[in-house]
Amino acid sequence: MLTLAGTVAVVLLVLPVLVAAVLSLDGLRHVAARLGAIGADRPLTLVVSRRRTVGTDAVRISLVSEWRPVLPGLRAGQHLVFDLPVEGRVVRRAYSLSRHDRWASSYEVTVKREAGGAGSGFLVDRALEGCRLTVSRARGTFLDADPARPVVLVAAGVGITPFRAMLMARRRRPRAGRTVLWFTARERVNLYFHDEFVALEQAAGWFRYRPVLTGEAPAGWAGGRERLTAAAILRELPEGADVLFCTGKAMESALIDGLVEAGLPRDRIRHEQFAAATEEAEVGGELTVVTAAGPRRLVPGRATSLLDVLDRAACAPPYECRVGDCGHCRVEITAGTVLDLDGGGPVRGRVLACRVRPDGDATVIV
Ligand SMILES: Cc1cc2nc3c(=O)[nH]c(=O)nc-3n(C[C@H](O)[C@H](O)[C@H](O)COP(=O)(O)OP(=O)(O)OC[C@H]3O[C@@H](n4cnc5c(N)ncnc54)[C@H](O)[C@@H]3O)c2cc1C
Ligand code: FES
Repeated sequence: MLTLAGTVAVVLLVLPVLVAAVLSLDGLRHVAARLGAIGADRPLTLVVSRRRTVGTDAVRISLVSEWRPVLPGLRAGQHLVFDLPVEGRVVRRAYSLSRHDRWASSYEVTVKREAGGAGSGFLVDRALEGCRLTVSRARGTFLDADPARPVVLVAAGVGITPFRAMLMARRRRPRAGRTVLWFTARERVNLYFHDEFVALEQAAGWFRYRPVLTGEAPAGWAGGRERLTAAAILRELPEGADVLFCTGKAMESALIDGLVEAGLPRDRIRHEQFAAATEEAEVGGELTVVTAAGPRRLVPGRATSLLDVLDRAACAPPYECRVGDCGHCRVEITAGTVLDLDGGGPVRGRVLACRVRPDGDATVIV
């Protein structure tokens, strides 16, 4: 039996050890959480494991890790951001994941070549099997909010990619909500995954596939031949369905206007944009760019946006989408003005570099 003095002595000895253990466990947890948070944002180095040509000018690229059997999780509709080595510089481009697996041992993107495009040109021509690429973790909020609810998906060309992933995720559900996919392209060969969607329609009562060809159709074509209209979408709109778009800007605006005019609440319509409707143009004047390294003068030449000018001169702010969605490319115009690519007017102050273009002398703080 311990005496009172003995008990006190044991408590005095053990207590500091217990406190130290708890504190260090807490510390360890803190360190682990910090490391996890850092890791969660760290880019991945992945290897091209497989390439398949699709349509007239696109590739499906599978990417694996050399040491992780299972890749970090993703949600259907999300995209990866690639840092691509193109002609001695890094071009950053987003590509939606075109498949979705519960436990992904590989990621897949489907990339269409844009004429003269730096990023798509690299991926279509030069990202061969074995090529190592730096990509972000999956990101983006263009998601299928609830696969048990009805939805209408409207895609044009390569805009099908996030929807294919969403359909794969819906297919795994015991009960998926009613789903209508409108998919339009000029030629049959560019309705990527067409056979897969036809098979899914035959197998799944919840799915309706509505392909539309705007160019020549093959003999016996049973799909749509007319340009897609809001009226057509409304005719097959399941009750309470959200409508998700991944088409070009012009088509999206026309269809959304039609749906809203017909009474569909705007908050039931969402969209992903792959490209801003921006043509390259000659940019006059001189740009003074102030970065942490000091001021620098640039003569822009031809460019789509201020971000394009800064990127080519290797002094761009961090960026991701190039369409005004992610909000990362904010810079400050402190002298002169730049042209707002959406409204067309001259603007100054804090702007998204991807949504403006220089138009005469200006100073920009990056
Ligand atoms: C969230 C997100 C997801 C995306 N997912 C995909 C995807 O799954 N598959 C895919 O192929 N692309 C996708 N994109 C588009 C992709 O990021 C690039 O914008 C596209 O590949 C063109 O880049 P580039 O470097 O080849 O062309 P750039 O060098 O940037 O541009 C070359 C020329 O092409 C024009 N241009 C650029 N992009 C387009 C376009 N999309 N349509 C028409 N003209 C264009 C430019 O105005 C310029 O004149 C996605 C974009 C975003 C923001
Ligand atoms: S790059 Fe995303 S908002 Fe400009």
